[in-house]
Amino acid sequence: MRELKNDRYLKALMRQPVDQTPVWMMRQAGRYLPEYKATRAEAGSFMDLCKNTELACEVTLQPLRRFPLDAAILFSDILTIPDAMGLGLYFETGEGPKFERPIQSAADIQALPVPDPEQELGYVMDAVRAIRAALDGQVPLIGFSGSPWTLATYMVEGGPTKTFSKIKKLIFSEPALAHAMLGKLAESVTLYLNAQIKAGAQAVQIFDTWGGVLSGPAYREFSLRYMEQIVSGLIREHEGRKVPVVLFTKGGGLWLEDIAATGCDAVGLDWTVDLGDARRRIGDKVALQGNMDPSMLYAPPAAIEQEVGRILHSFGEGPGHVFNLGHGIHPDVDPAHAGAFIEAVGRLSRPYHK
Ligand code: CP3
Repeated sequence: MRELKNDRYLKALMRQPVDQTPVWMMRQAGRYLPEYKATRAEAGSFMDLCKNTELACEVTLQPLRRFPLDAAILFSDILTIPDAMGLGLYFETGEGPKFERPIQSAADIQALPVPDPEQELGYVMDAVRAIRAALDGQVPLIGFSGSPWTLATYMVEGGPTKTFSKIKKLIFSEPALAHAMLGKLAESVTLYLNAQIKAGAQAVQIFDTWGGVLSGPAYREFSLRYMEQIVSGLIREHEGRKVPVVLFTKGGGLWLEDIAATGCDAVGLDWTVDLGDARRRIGDKVALQGNMDPSMLYAPPAAIEQEVGRILHSFGEGPGHVFNLGHGIHPDVDPAHAGAFIEAVGRLSRPYHK
């Protein structure tokens, strides 16, 4: 077992005692950092950056050089799986992700392959191995994937949507077909995350960004059940250490008990949930990750610090909390404000861990 110099993040996910609350930020490598923008320009397109092992490794490490973060997250995207399935992912500036060949028919779904993670997605595994080596045990490396439901929304809509009408039409008018697609995605995600674990990811997170657009029953049927299937198929111990699994459903606050019952180790929370309330509901089963509104980083540092204090107080004493934003950091945030946030978590959390 290779030595890990800072294992606060892994310990907190296992609800073990730590000296201070660990912190990382969703989308911590990204456009709010000028050094990211420079590397991105050097690489070409966003996917060129993801596929360039050396540069993907470089941008993963950039936020860690600036801030005392307690974890690194693989630089990649959730849409690598649909891309590997042949849908042709591309990004149009200011418009978000799009697919050249979105899913439009039953035949398209039947033809979807389950990608081999060391072949079509081999560039992701190469990045994991390179980042793990470059980190040299400084902090753990988080691997990730999108949830089947969230991937399906992009694949069927073909790009960003506000109404989700195409994917909702599929699940409610042709549920069997929707389940066939989600089943293939669940299998692909399981293989993909297990390959990341074997390549060196020390924890994994599933992003269910769009679970919250569903009703409770539809969420359980079309999103949660597939995440549960993935959790039960994951490698849970590797290199002599437990590999924690974090489930993040944006807008999932109403269903925390169901999410915690999947067998995951931690539940990611957005800012619409009160952290203390979430702890009372599921804190005896899982760790909690979250949950400052990323827009709070627009506030002056003193106000950010106050909000960090409020969230720490809400969780209260003892282990089981990983501090994070409730969603990804916005591209127009001042990096100094991100720094103030991270510093405040470290300093203000110590009294809660005596
Ligand atoms: O957190 C990290 O630092 C790791 C890297 C990471 C990215 N995307 C890099 C990225 C992670 C974990 C993701 C996950 C992701 N991607 C999600 C789930 C999390 C969430 O935010 O809800 C989703 C829904 C996507 C799909 C996606 N990819 C979107 C909506 C976008 C933004 C499009 C835009 O132009 O605003 C991307 C592109 C993307 N992924 C960028 C980054 C840094 C920006 C692309 C660029 O540099 O031009």
